[in-house]
Amino acid sequence: MVNVCVIGAAGGIGQPLSLLLALGLPNKTTLSLYDVAGAAGVAADISHIDRDITIKWANGKLPTVPADPEMKKIAQGVDLFVGAWTCSLSSLVSPASLAMSRDDLFNVNAGIVLDVVKTCASVSPKACFAIVTNPVNSTVPIAANVLKSLGCYDKNKLFGVSTLDIVRATRFINDERTPLNVATVPVVGGHSDVTIVPLFSQLAVGKEIAPGRITELTKRVQDAGTEVVQAKAGKGSATLSMAAAGARFALWIVDGLLGLSNPLVYSYVDTDGSQDTKFLAIPVVLGRNGIQQRLGLGKITATEEELLKIAKKAVTTNISKGEAFAKSKL
Ligand SMILES: NC(=O)c1ccc[n+]([C@@H]2O[C@H](COP(=O)([O-])OP(=O)(O)OC[C@H]3O[C@@H](n4cnc5c(N)ncnc54)[C@H](O)[C@@H]3O)[C@@H](O)[C@H]2O)c1
Repeated sequence: MVNVCVIGAAGGIGQPLSLLLALGLPNKTTLSLYDVAGAAGVAADISHIDRDITIKWANGKLPTVPADPEMKKIAQGVDLFVGAWTCSLSSLVSPASLAMSRDDLFNVNAGIVLDVVKTCASVSPKACFAIVTNPVNSTVPIAANVLKSLGCYDKNKLFGVSTLDIVRATRFINDERTPLNVATVPVVGGHSDVTIVPLFSQLAVGKEIAPGRITELTKRVQDAGTEVVQAKAGKGSATLSMAAAGARFALWIVDGLLGLSNPLVYSYVDTDGSQDTKFLAIPVVLGRNGIQQRLGLGKITATEEELLKIAKKAVTTNISKGEAFAKSKL
Protein backbone atom coordinates (compact mmCIF):
# COMPACT_ATOMS: atom_id res chain seq x y z
CA MET A 1 0.00 0.00 0.00
CA VAL A 2 1.14 3.56 -0.55
CA ASN A 3 2.94 5.89 1.81
CA VAL A 4 2.22 9.61 1.41
CA CYS A 5 4.50 12.08 3.17
CA VAL A 6 3.53 15.70 3.85
CA ILE A 7 6.53 18.00 4.26
CA GLY A 8 5.58 21.13 6.19
CA ALA A 9 2.79 19.19 7.91
CA ALA A 10 2.37 21.64 10.79
CA GLY A 11 1.88 24.67 8.56
CA GLY A 12 -1.23 26.60 7.56
CA ILE A 13 -1.70 24.32 4.55
CA GLY A 14 0.05 21.28 6.01
CA GLN A 15 -2.38 20.74 8.91
CA PRO A 16 -5.69 20.76 7.00
CA LEU A 17 -4.00 18.93 4.12
CA SER A 18 -2.85 16.19 6.50
CA LEU A 19 -6.34 15.98 7.98
CA LEU A 20 -7.98 15.64 4.56
CA LEU A 21 -5.46 12.99 3.55
CA ALA A 22 -6.09 11.12 6.81
CA LEU A 23 -9.79 11.11 5.94
CA GLY A 24 -9.40 10.37 2.23
CA LEU A 25 -6.54 7.87 1.88
CA PRO A 26 -7.54 4.24 1.34
CA ASN A 27 -7.37 1.84 4.29
CA LYS A 28 -3.97 0.32 5.14
CA THR A 29 -2.04 3.24 3.67
CA THR A 30 0.57 5.27 5.56
CA LEU A 31 0.52 9.01 6.15
CA SER A 32 3.96 10.36 7.12
CA LEU A 33 4.21 13.85 8.59
CA TYR A 34 7.35 15.97 8.71
CA ASP A 35 7.98 19.55 9.77
CA VAL A 36 10.81 21.44 11.35
CA ALA A 37 8.44 22.31 14.20
CA GLY A 38 5.21 20.80 15.42
CA ALA A 39 4.92 17.55 13.47
CA ALA A 40 4.59 15.50 16.66
CA GLY A 41 1.49 17.40 17.78
CA VAL A 42 -0.21 17.16 14.39
CA ALA A 43 0.54 13.44 14.25
CA ALA A 44 -0.73 12.78 17.80
CA ASP A 45 -3.93 14.66 16.99
CA ILE A 46 -4.57 13.00 13.62
CA SER A 47 -3.72 9.54 14.93
CA HIS A 48 -6.85 9.71 17.16
CA ILE A 49 -9.10 9.70 14.07
CA ASP A 50 -10.61 6.24 13.68
CA ARG A 51 -9.25 5.42 10.24
CA ASP A 52 -7.33 2.27 9.32
CA ILE A 53 -4.19 4.12 8.24
CA THR A 54 -0.75 4.28 9.82
CA ILE A 55 0.47 7.68 11.00
CA LYS A 56 4.22 8.30 11.18
CA TRP A 57 5.97 11.54 11.99
CA ALA A 58 9.35 13.19 12.42
CA ASN A 59 10.41 16.61 13.63
CA GLY A 60 13.33 18.40 12.06
CA LYS A 61 15.29 21.19 13.70
CA LEU A 62 15.36 24.95 13.62
CA PRO A 63 17.61 26.32 12.31
CA THR A 64 17.37 23.55 9.74
CA VAL A 65 20.22 21.16 9.15
CA PRO A 66 21.06 20.00 5.62
CA ALA A 67 20.16 16.36 4.90
CA ASP A 68 18.40 16.13 8.26
CA PRO A 69 18.64 12.55 9.61
CA GLU A 70 15.02 12.82 10.88
CA MET A 71 13.85 13.67 7.36
CA LYS A 72 15.85 10.73 6.00
CA LYS A 73 14.11 8.44 8.48
CA ILE A 74 10.59 9.58 7.60
CA ALA A 75 11.38 9.56 3.85
CA GLN A 76 11.94 5.76 3.90
CA GLY A 77 9.48 3.90 1.69
CA VAL A 78 7.54 6.99 0.63
CA ASP A 79 5.66 6.82 -2.71
CA LEU A 80 4.45 10.42 -2.82
CA PHE A 81 5.96 13.49 -1.18
CA VAL A 82 3.59 16.45 -0.95
CA GLY A 83 5.69 19.52 -0.30
CA ALA A 84 3.87 22.36 1.46
CA TRP A 85 6.82 23.80 3.31
CA THR A 86 7.94 27.39 3.20
CA CYS A 87 10.18 29.79 4.96
CA SER A 88 7.30 31.67 6.53
CA LEU A 89 8.19 34.67 8.62
CA SER A 90 7.43 32.65 11.76
CA SER A 91 9.85 29.90 10.79
CA LEU A 92 12.65 32.32 10.06
CA VAL A 93 14.89 33.03 12.96
CA SER A 94 15.99 36.59 12.44
CA PRO A 95 13.64 39.59 12.76
CA ALA A 96 15.73 41.08 9.95
CA SER A 97 13.81 38.68 7.73
CA LEU A 98 10.87 41.03 7.96
CA ALA A 99 12.84 43.34 5.73
CA MET A 100 13.56 40.62 3.20
CA SER A 101 13.19 41.45 -0.44
CA ARG A 102 11.26 39.20 -2.84
CA ASP A 103 14.58 37.96 -4.18
CA ASP A 104 15.85 37.12 -0.68
CA LEU A 105 12.64 35.21 -0.02
CA PHE A 106 12.99 33.38 -3.33
CA ASN A 107 16.56 32.41 -2.44
CA VAL A 108 15.62 31.08 1.00
CA ASN A 109 12.58 29.17 -0.26
CA ALA A 110 14.48 27.87 -3.28
CA GLY A 111 17.28 26.73 -0.96
CA ILE A 112 14.79 24.78 1.16
CA VAL A 113 13.29 23.18 -1.97
CA LEU A 114 16.74 22.15 -3.05
CA ASP A 115 17.62 20.61 0.30
CA VAL A 116 14.25 18.91 0.94
CA VAL A 117 14.04 17.31 -2.52
CA LYS A 118 17.68 16.21 -2.34
CA THR A 119 17.26 14.59 1.07
CA CYS A 120 13.93 12.90 0.26
CA ALA A 121 15.03 11.63 -3.16
CA SER A 122 18.30 10.28 -1.80
CA VAL A 123 16.20 7.94 0.36
CA SER A 124 13.20 7.27 -1.92
CA PRO A 125 14.46 7.91 -5.48
CA LYS A 126 11.40 6.39 -7.16
CA ALA A 127 8.85 8.53 -5.32
CA CYS A 128 6.52 11.10 -6.90
CA PHE A 129 6.88 14.73 -5.79
CA ALA A 130 3.92 17.12 -5.70
CA ILE A 131 5.25 20.62 -5.06
CA VAL A 132 2.91 23.13 -3.43
CA THR A 133 5.67 25.51 -2.31
CA ASN A 134 5.65 28.77 -4.25
CA PRO A 135 6.75 30.05 -6.66
CA VAL A 136 5.69 26.77 -8.27
CA ASN A 137 6.72 27.99 -11.76
CA SER A 138 10.33 28.06 -10.47
CA THR A 139 10.37 25.52 -7.59
CA VAL A 140 9.40 22.67 -9.93
CA PRO A 141 12.36 23.29 -12.31
CA ILE A 142 14.61 23.52 -9.24
CA ALA A 143 13.31 20.14 -8.04
CA ALA A 144 13.85 18.69 -11.54
CA ASN A 145 17.48 19.83 -11.53
CA VAL A 146 18.07 18.35 -8.07
CA LEU A 147 16.60 15.02 -9.17
CA LYS A 148 18.69 15.10 -12.36
CA SER A 149 21.83 15.73 -10.29
CA LEU A 150 20.99 12.62 -8.24
CA GLY A 151 20.39 10.59 -11.42
CA CYS A 152 16.79 9.82 -10.46
CA TYR A 153 14.78 12.36 -12.46
CA ASP A 154 11.57 10.84 -13.80
CA LYS A 155 9.64 13.44 -15.82
CA ASN A 156 6.44 11.54 -15.08
CA LYS A 157 6.76 11.80 -11.31
CA LEU A 158 7.26 15.51 -10.66
CA PHE A 159 4.18 17.73 -10.31
CA GLY A 160 3.58 21.39 -9.55
CA VAL A 161 0.26 21.58 -7.73
CA SER A 162 -1.86 24.10 -9.67
CA THR A 163 -5.17 22.49 -8.66
CA LEU A 164 -6.27 25.53 -6.66
CA ASP A 165 -6.59 27.49 -9.92
CA ILE A 166 -8.94 24.82 -11.29
CA VAL A 167 -10.92 24.68 -8.03
CA ARG A 168 -11.32 28.47 -7.99
CA ALA A 169 -12.24 28.78 -11.68
CA THR A 170 -14.83 26.04 -11.27
CA ARG A 171 -16.34 27.65 -8.19
CA PHE A 172 -16.39 31.13 -9.72
CA ILE A 173 -18.15 30.08 -12.93
CA ASN A 174 -20.69 28.00 -11.01
CA ASP A 175 -21.39 31.06 -8.83
CA GLU A 176 -22.42 33.00 -11.93
CA ARG A 177 -25.87 31.49 -11.81
CA THR A 178 -27.46 28.17 -10.97
CA PRO A 179 -27.60 25.55 -12.28
CA LEU A 180 -24.47 25.64 -14.39
CA ASN A 181 -23.14 22.40 -12.88
CA VAL A 182 -19.66 22.79 -14.34
CA ALA A 183 -17.55 19.88 -13.06
CA THR A 184 -14.07 21.19 -13.88
CA VAL A 185 -12.68 24.23 -15.65
CA PRO A 186 -9.47 23.39 -17.55
CA VAL A 187 -6.69 25.76 -16.43
CA VAL A 188 -3.34 25.75 -18.23
CA GLY A 189 -0.14 27.83 -18.30
CA GLY A 190 1.56 28.37 -14.96
CA HIS A 191 0.63 28.98 -11.35
CA SER A 192 0.97 32.71 -10.74
CA ASP A 193 -0.75 35.87 -11.95
CA VAL A 194 -0.86 36.20 -15.73
CA THR A 195 0.51 32.70 -16.22
CA ILE A 196 -2.84 31.24 -15.05
CA VAL A 197 -5.02 30.68 -18.13
CA PRO A 198 -8.53 29.27 -17.56
CA LEU A 199 -9.99 27.80 -20.76
CA PHE A 200 -13.64 28.75 -20.19
CA SER A 201 -14.34 28.39 -23.93
CA GLN A 202 -13.99 24.60 -23.59
CA LEU A 203 -17.08 24.43 -21.38
CA ALA A 204 -20.49 24.10 -22.99
CA VAL A 205 -21.76 26.84 -20.63
CA GLY A 206 -18.78 29.06 -21.42
CA LYS A 207 -20.57 30.16 -24.57
CA GLU A 208 -23.59 31.27 -22.55
CA ILE A 209 -21.56 33.85 -20.63
CA ALA A 210 -20.73 37.21 -22.18
CA PRO A 211 -17.10 37.57 -23.33
CA GLY A 212 -16.65 40.63 -21.08
CA ARG A 213 -17.68 38.57 -18.06
CA ILE A 214 -15.29 35.78 -19.06
CA THR A 215 -12.48 38.36 -19.09
CA GLU A 216 -13.48 39.44 -15.56
CA LEU A 217 -13.64 35.85 -14.33
CA THR A 218 -10.21 35.12 -15.83
CA LYS A 219 -8.75 38.11 -14.00
CA ARG A 220 -10.46 37.01 -10.77
CA VAL A 221 -8.92 33.52 -11.02
CA GLN A 222 -5.48 35.05 -11.70
CA ASP A 223 -5.76 37.37 -8.67
CA ALA A 224 -7.74 35.11 -6.33
CA GLY A 225 -4.81 34.60 -3.95
CA THR A 226 -4.83 38.35 -3.21
CA GLU A 227 -8.54 38.21 -2.26
CA VAL A 228 -7.65 35.76 0.52
CA VAL A 229 -4.53 37.62 1.66
CA GLN A 230 -6.55 40.85 1.92
CA ALA A 231 -9.44 39.15 3.74
CA LYS A 232 -6.91 37.71 6.21
CA ALA A 233 -5.53 41.25 6.63
CA GLY A 234 -2.07 40.18 5.46
CA LYS A 235 -1.78 37.56 8.21
CA GLY A 236 -1.76 34.59 5.85
CA SER A 237 -2.62 33.35 2.40
CA ALA A 238 -4.90 30.62 1.09
CA THR A 239 -4.54 27.58 3.34
CA LEU A 240 -7.94 25.87 3.61
CA SER A 241 -8.91 26.03 -0.08
CA MET A 242 -5.31 25.08 -0.90
CA ALA A 243 -5.46 22.11 1.43
CA ALA A 244 -8.69 20.98 -0.25
CA ALA A 245 -7.08 21.34 -3.68
CA GLY A 246 -3.81 19.70 -2.57
CA ALA A 247 -5.55 16.75 -0.93
CA ARG A 248 -7.71 16.20 -4.02
CA PHE A 249 -4.60 16.24 -6.21
CA ALA A 250 -2.61 13.90 -3.94
CA LEU A 251 -5.52 11.45 -3.77
CA TRP A 252 -5.72 11.43 -7.58
CA ILE A 253 -2.03 10.53 -7.75
CA VAL A 254 -2.61 7.77 -5.19
CA ASP A 255 -5.57 6.42 -7.21
CA GLY A 256 -3.29 6.26 -10.25
CA LEU A 257 -0.38 4.65 -8.35
CA LEU A 258 -2.71 1.99 -6.93
CA GLY A 259 -4.29 1.35 -10.33
CA LEU A 260 -7.74 2.28 -8.98
CA SER A 261 -8.40 4.76 -11.81
CA ASN A 262 -6.66 6.93 -14.39
CA PRO A 263 -7.57 10.49 -13.38
CA LEU A 264 -7.29 13.28 -15.93
CA VAL A 265 -5.75 16.23 -14.09
CA TYR A 266 -4.23 19.62 -14.86
CA SER A 267 -0.79 20.10 -13.39
CA TYR A 268 2.41 22.09 -13.93
CA VAL A 269 4.72 19.38 -15.28
CA ASP A 270 7.64 18.63 -17.60
CA THR A 271 6.03 18.95 -21.02
CA ASP A 272 8.47 16.43 -22.55
CA GLY A 273 8.61 18.49 -25.73
CA SER A 274 4.83 18.52 -26.17
CA GLN A 275 4.79 22.32 -25.68
CA ASP A 276 7.26 25.08 -26.46
CA THR A 277 8.16 25.56 -22.78
CA LYS A 278 9.99 22.96 -20.65
CA PHE A 279 7.28 23.08 -17.95
CA LEU A 280 3.64 24.11 -18.23
CA ALA A 281 0.31 23.32 -16.62
CA ILE A 282 -1.27 20.91 -19.08
CA PRO A 283 -3.80 18.08 -18.97
CA VAL A 284 -2.25 14.72 -18.09
CA VAL A 285 -3.59 11.24 -17.45
CA LEU A 286 -2.28 9.57 -14.29
CA GLY A 287 -1.43 5.93 -13.84
CA ARG A 288 0.67 3.43 -11.89
CA ASN A 289 3.92 5.30 -12.65
CA GLY A 290 2.75 8.88 -12.39
CA ILE A 291 1.98 10.58 -15.69
CA GLN A 292 0.76 8.02 -18.18
CA GLN A 293 -0.06 10.43 -21.00
CA ARG A 294 0.32 14.12 -21.80
CA LEU A 295 -2.68 15.54 -23.64
CA GLY A 296 -2.94 18.51 -25.97
CA LEU A 297 -4.56 21.73 -24.78
CA GLY A 298 -7.61 21.22 -27.01
CA LYS A 299 -9.43 23.88 -29.00
CA ILE A 300 -8.83 27.39 -27.69
CA THR A 301 -10.05 30.82 -28.78
CA ALA A 302 -7.87 33.60 -30.19
CA THR A 303 -8.21 35.46 -26.86
CA GLU A 304 -7.06 32.40 -24.87
CA GLU A 305 -4.21 31.92 -27.37
CA GLU A 306 -3.11 35.48 -26.67
CA LEU A 307 -3.26 34.90 -22.88
CA LEU A 308 -1.28 31.70 -23.30
CA LYS A 309 1.41 33.54 -25.25
CA ILE A 310 1.82 36.00 -22.36
CA ALA A 311 1.79 33.11 -19.86
CA LYS A 312 4.46 31.12 -21.68
CA LYS A 313 6.75 34.14 -21.87
CA ALA A 314 6.52 34.64 -18.09
CA VAL A 315 6.81 30.89 -17.38
CA THR A 316 9.99 30.73 -19.49
CA THR A 317 11.52 33.49 -17.35
CA ASN A 318 10.42 31.72 -14.14
CA ILE A 319 11.94 28.43 -15.34
CA SER A 320 15.24 30.13 -16.18
CA LYS A 321 15.32 31.72 -12.72
CA GLY A 322 14.80 28.34 -11.05
CA GLU A 323 17.37 26.63 -13.26
CA ALA A 324 19.95 29.35 -12.72
CA PHE A 325 19.48 29.02 -8.96
CA ALA A 326 19.79 25.23 -9.06
CA LYS A 327 22.91 25.40 -11.26
CA SER A 328 24.56 27.85 -8.88
CA LYS A 329 23.99 25.49 -5.91
CA LEU A 330 24.38 21.97 -7.29
N1 LIG B 1 0.43 25.81 -4.93
C1 LIG B 1 -0.51 26.61 -4.43
O1 LIG B 1 -1.60 26.76 -5.01
C2 LIG B 1 -0.28 27.35 -3.16
C3 LIG B 1 -1.34 28.07 -2.54
C4 LIG B 1 -1.09 28.72 -1.34
C5 LIG B 1 0.18 28.70 -0.77
N2 LIG B 1 1.17 28.02 -1.40
C6 LIG B 1 2.52 27.91 -0.85
O2 LIG B 1 2.56 26.85 0.10
C7 LIG B 1 3.64 27.05 0.99
C8 LIG B 1 3.17 26.80 2.41
O3 LIG B 1 2.23 27.79 2.80
P1 LIG B 1 1.63 27.84 4.29
O4 LIG B 1 0.60 28.91 4.28
O5 LIG B 1 1.26 26.49 4.74
O6 LIG B 1 2.91 28.33 5.11
P2 LIG B 1 3.17 28.18 6.69
O7 LIG B 1 4.26 29.11 6.99
O8 LIG B 1 1.90 28.28 7.45
O9 LIG B 1 3.69 26.68 6.85
C9 LIG B 1 4.92 26.29 6.33
C10 LIG B 1 5.45 25.16 7.18
O10 LIG B 1 6.69 24.74 6.58
C11 LIG B 1 7.54 24.41 7.67
N3 LIG B 1 8.93 24.40 7.21
C12 LIG B 1 9.79 25.42 7.05
N4 LIG B 1 10.99 24.96 6.63
C13 LIG B 1 10.88 23.63 6.54
C14 LIG B 1 11.77 22.59 6.16
N5 LIG B 1 13.03 22.84 5.81
N6 LIG B 1 11.33 21.32 6.17
C15 LIG B 1 10.05 21.05 6.52
N7 LIG B 1 9.15 21.99 6.88
C16 LIG B 1 9.58 23.26 6.89
C17 LIG B 1 7.25 25.45 8.73
O11 LIG B 1 7.68 25.03 10.03
C18 LIG B 1 5.72 25.56 8.62
O12 LIG B 1 5.06 24.67 9.51
C19 LIG B 1 4.12 28.46 0.71
O13 LIG B 1 5.27 28.40 -0.11
C20 LIG B 1 2.98 29.10 -0.04
O14 LIG B 1 3.42 30.15 -0.89
C21 LIG B 1 0.96 27.34 -2.56
